Amino acid sequence: MKRIHLLIAFLLFVNLAPLRADEGMWLPALISQRIGDMQQNGFRLTAEDIYSVNQASLKDAVLLFGGGCTGELVSDEGLLLTNHHCGYSYIQRHSSVEHDYLRDGFWAMSKAEELPNKGLTVSFLERMEDVTGIILKGYESSMSEAQRDTLIRENRDKLIKQVTQAGKGLSARVEALYYGNQYFLFVYKVYRDVRLVGAPPSSIGKFGGETDNWMWPRHTGDFSIFRIYADKDNEPADYSPDNVPYRPKRFFRISRAGVNAGDFTFVYGCPGSTKEYVTAEEVRYVGEVSDPQKIALRTQRLDIQKKYMMQSQAVRIQYSSKFASVANAWKKWQGESGGIKRLGTVAAKKAYEARFKEWAKGTRYDGLVERLDSLYALRNPYYLASEYNTETVRAVELLSFAANVQSRLRADRPVEDLAESFFKDYYQPIDEEIFVAMLQAFDEHMSDTFKPAYFKEQLAAHGSLAAWRDEIFAQSLFTDKAKVVALTPADADRIAADPALQLADAFATWFAGDIRPVVQRLNGEINLAYRDYMRGQMEFEPDKIFYPDANLTLRVAYGHVEGYSPADGIDYRPVSTLKGIMEKDNPDIFDYNIPQTLRDVYAEGGHDKQPVCFLATNHTSGGNSGSPVINADGDLIGINFDRVWEGTMSDIVFDPEYCRNISLDIRYLLFIVDKIGHAAYLFDEMCFAD
Ligand code: ARG
Ligand code: GLU
Repeated sequence: MKRIHLLIAFLLFVNLAPLRADEGMWLPALISQRIGDMQQNGFRLTAEDIYSVNQASLKDAVLLFGGGCTGELVSDEGLLLTNHHCGYSYIQRHSSVEHDYLRDGFWAMSKAEELPNKGLTVSFLERMEDVTGIILKGYESSMSEAQRDTLIRENRDKLIKQVTQAGKGLSARVEALYYGNQYFLFVYKVYRDVRLVGAPPSSIGKFGGETDNWMWPRHTGDFSIFRIYADKDNEPADYSPDNVPYRPKRFFRISRAGVNAGDFTFVYGCPGSTKEYVTAEEVRYVGEVSDPQKIALRTQRLDIQKKYMMQSQAVRIQYSSKFASVANAWKKWQGESGGIKRLGTVAAKKAYEARFKEWAKGTRYDGLVERLDSLYALRNPYYLASEYNTETVRAVELLSFAANVQSRLRADRPVEDLAESFFKDYYQPIDEEIFVAMLQAFDEHMSDTFKPAYFKEQLAAHGSLAAWRDEIFAQSLFTDKAKVVALTPADADRIAADPALQLADAFATWFAGDIRPVVQRLNGEINLAYRDYMRGQMEFEPDKIFYPDANLTLRVAYGHVEGYSPADGIDYRPVSTLKGIMEKDNPDIFDYNIPQTLRDVYAEGGHDKQPVCFLATNHTSGGNSGSPVINADGDLIGINFDRVWEGTMSDIVFDPEYCRNISLDIRYLLFIVDKIGHAAYLFDEMCFAD
């Protein structure tokens, strides 16, 4: 009896024990190296189904959306899904007081109603291949680094020219992987006529706003819908009413079967940037210096913005987008530095380095970690100054605006539109307070040798930042829209004498002269040392599989649906539902004020269990927004849009306990398109697996 119990317990354990969360962002062309593991974890397709240059494969249904998001195709008429926050700026550009598509949503009821988007492109990966041999052709170890660079550039340009001549709309990039130990060619086909088809109201697409950003439980309907158009031959073309819907090689079938804990998931998209192989010293700098200081600066900035936003509806609207972008990284850094601390990554990397150093004795890798340490010691003060420049000086809106106006006029370009968009969302009391707070932080945290002389002199002459602020904001012409609009290139002297511009100029000159060149030179040397250190790590641990750091190229991440425990006594389930939206709904809280139409739909009853979002263990990063989340059969089950903040250190170190990506459940998209958009006609062109 006891044995049977044990057996049952064992079988249960085997069946129910969660699969290990899977770290890694793999190159699709090399996925055959991982396919066995993917299949063991439940995937039912082959490597050729994921990536193939000989036949249509899933990669042909994935695209780089604009310059920093991912999207996927869901019909043979070029219908494309991505995130609401990826389509946001395009939706905004079509919005006006009469048609506020950001607020109310937008739904084309036919192809004729779809809206073109100037400047928006989508790129499909045609193929990727290892071109290390071609790129390094002619290289000899006696060459200097500069000679190597020149050689690489020449070989690269030749190769790119050659491959892009082969067809219409082709663009190619050669990317260094593993810090330049390997080079890959990426050939893209770029489509330029992409039209807006649908977007939910922001109160659905951005539900939860900054309050819920990077958080679970999550209920954001973060999607928007576009369509790609091509010329009559299905080739890329500029916008034209004569263009026709793009006919893709492949699009995703949609699964409505839903997700359960333990289900295999696969995210196919373009993560932007990670640094998994850096030294303890770099992790220490990020986790103990850079992140905490930037968080403190942004906390001050956000507090000032929030104070005024709470006093006035008009200011809240003016600053909501600015607040969102400041808050986004602010929260991510908190998770990143917290995660590094919790995991003891600095100590763990130090221990690793001690072993590495021992092993490296007498090899070409001897002294490398030490060299990196001393390069960081030289670089970090300059790098911190550069981060302070971004986070303090450039946080003062007036200073950036003054510099922008000046460069427009120098280029003989009109400034009306710039002034228009600046003043539309400018509230001077916020900027004045930020001016004092940020420049004070700069003054306190930068050592004297890292301050522009002009800043020191003027501050001393004025006695205090408050007094200096009063003078600048009273005297500068850049606080007055009429004065700015009236400016012409002939006013160059008057502009140069403006106190706001003088200050902006002093900082810009200091940065371009004293800081940036040093950072660039030392970063160059650091990267070079990493080229060796990367190779050293690979030789040191020959059995470990190293995936290349993210660089906005197409990657495969796989894992499974799973909740997590953010703190003692709390277990998060992996799925959220419409019931949770109704629990959060509150007309008095901007982030949680859902449209009345959604309340009405809910009141019909029967929608409590309507799924909204889910968690999984896929290793993702910024840029993976909009990525297709795919099930074991290759069908679309969701759209990736975020990570949980406790796991954002995954850009540096992945922790299977905490690292979760957040996806929109595709069934919520279908629900909103139907019930809120009344655009269920779009389902006719989709293909459903079940
Ligand atoms: N955190 C997500 C990302 O990094 C979403 C950002 C947009 N949403 C927001 N509430 N700010 O892009
Ligand atoms: N929201 C992010 C993006 O825009 C994805 C979240 C992340 O960093 O993982 O790409």
